[in-house]
Amino acid sequence: MPLKSAIFYFSQQGSTKKIAEKIAEGLRYAENSCKLFRFTKISEDLNLISGLDFREYQLIGFGTPVYYFHPPYHLIEVLDSLPDLSHAKGFLFCTSGGNPGATLYKMKKILDKKGLKIIDGYDKWIGRDQHRCYSNFRESSLPSSLGHPNQKELEEAKQFGKSLISKALNPKTSEKLDFWSNICL
Ligand SMILES: Cc1cc2nc3c(=O)[nH]c(=O)nc-3n(C[C@H](O)[C@H](O)[C@H](O)COP(=O)(O)O)c2cc1C
Repeated sequence: MPLKSAIFYFSQQGSTKKIAEKIAEGLRYAENSCKLFRFTKISEDLNLISGLDFREYQLIGFGTPVYYFHPPYHLIEVLDSLPDLSHAKGFLFCTSGGNPGATLYKMKKILDKKGLKIIDGYDKWIGRDQHRCYSNFRESSLPSSLGHPNQKELEEAKQFGKSLISKALNPKTSEKLDFWSNICL
């Protein structure tokens, strides 16, 4: 049976979107399918969530940019509003300027309450880090983040998606528990 997946992501400046699209490409390998949903405004996102039948999906992914070592409040609120997801497996990802902190751990904590079994996650992809505090730099961006996510990272994201298919279909795949959780802020 082909795997039916959905990816929900928030992306203000486009880096997380690029990674989400590549993961989806990987998840669409062979007969498998993957739908993409982009969170935009909280009121619209809450409407989207309440109108969806999540039982359609066996694998559900969530992606986000990192804001101050955490998921954005926007995403936290939307995750909090999710229904029971104990029928499905899940995965998490983020893009950051290089310091993702406890972002995926915090997302997992919320999704644990929804019964979603998180089987994988990746927090090492760099996104273009544009911020007012970098106004002295070219394009107001952290120099080390320019050009990211690059071709190598996009290909990694596609392979990550492809690798999730067998993990999701295997009933013996264990929960991923080793997310960085050392919050000192
Ligand atoms: C308000 C704000 C806070 C951020 N905080 C962090 C942070 O704590 N650590 C980090 O590595 N990157 C941080 N970033 C960089 C973003 O996580 C990164 O640029 C991300 O790829 C943006 O994703 P997007 O293009 O999908 O919006 C921050 C960016 C913004 C705008």
